[in-house]
Amino acid sequence: MNYDYKVSAAGRVNIIGEHIDYCGGKVFPAALSLTNDVYVKANGTNKINLSWTTTDFKVSLDINELEKYADLKYGNYQAGCALIWKNAGHKLLGCDMLQDCKVPFGSGLSSSAAIEVSTLAALATIAGEKIDKKEIALLAQKAEREYAKVNCGIMDQYASANGLKNHAILLDCKNITHEFVPFNLGDYELVISNCNKPHSLVTSKYNERRSETEEALKILQPVLNVDCLAEISVEKFEENKRLLPEVIAKRAEHVVYECDRVKKSVEAMKSGNIELLGKLLNQSHASLRDEYEVTGKELDVLAEAAQNFDGCLGSRMTGAGFGGCTISIVKKNKVAEFKKVVGEKYAREIGYDCSFYEAEIADGITIEKL
Ligand code: GLA
Repeated sequence: MNYDYKVSAAGRVNIIGEHIDYCGGKVFPAALSLTNDVYVKANGTNKINLSWTTTDFKVSLDINELEKYADLKYGNYQAGCALIWKNAGHKLLGCDMLQDCKVPFGSGLSSSAAIEVSTLAALATIAGEKIDKKEIALLAQKAEREYAKVNCGIMDQYASANGLKNHAILLDCKNITHEFVPFNLGDYELVISNCNKPHSLVTSKYNERRSETEEALKILQPVLNVDCLAEISVEKFEENKRLLPEVIAKRAEHVVYECDRVKKSVEAMKSGNIELLGKLLNQSHASLRDEYEVTGKELDVLAEAAQNFDGCLGSRMTGAGFGGCTISIVKKNKVAEFKKVVGEKYAREIGYDCSFYEAEIADGITIEKL
């Protein structure tokens, strides 16, 4: 079949700043060259005809009845995005759409954000509308909340839309603004490893953590006069943490210290202090393991094996956790050895293999006229 455009959006890694986007924090993700590609052309009907490269399944959505597709196994996200696009006042056209997802599912590299963002950008493109990346990210986040029922922050969709080749994104999640920072690790490179743990309960545990941070804010807000947990300094938190119930205090402690680590990590990357960046990654993982409790045995074994490898400056889980990927800063000439040593250690302890991905830091939305 012929298509008019190829519209892509990226998966992402988060370098640091985990579980703080929904607390108004600054996070430090980067878009990946692993993308969801949407091949699209307007078809002059009131139908969105969907197909996928990964399955023979096909589905046809009526653009005037988009509410009724929420329970579809294939096509619910696309229907959701189209409905949200239309309800935001945009022009929605019938089209043929082929989806080609190269972001591994369930990897914590935001395949769903890439699908949502590229679908919305494809709808905008055929309607002849200007691409507003910030708006697309916000609409995609809405789709994730309503269709995947994850009460997520803005990080994934924003990075997927706004990424810039060879740059990390310092994203201020309170004001929804960003600054690009050249992604430069000198003699080192970022290695992405997937622990391949079968996913379970991620959504409910994620939403539970989010409510715990809201509870912490409810208690600290009247005392410290802040809008969000991310505004609380380490010193102020230490003075007041006794006001919080034990578990809630651990969650808030992670948020406050992680915000501080982001600040230090950005400075470290800007000044080329990759050793310090590595240490901050290790601290972040420890905090996600001990205070926020979102890692699990598989991610811990993988991160620890990496941290103990001579030639790796730091390693931590990336994304929501409970499975998915780690990122590690590894000396360029030792990457092959790293994969062998870490892979073998992981398989020995866990009983199945982890996988490694080759990916560059790439652009977010890209549009190609075919
Ligand atoms: C998921 C969410 C993001 C963010 C991360 C944790 O990827 O979609 O909004 O909260 O988890 O940092």
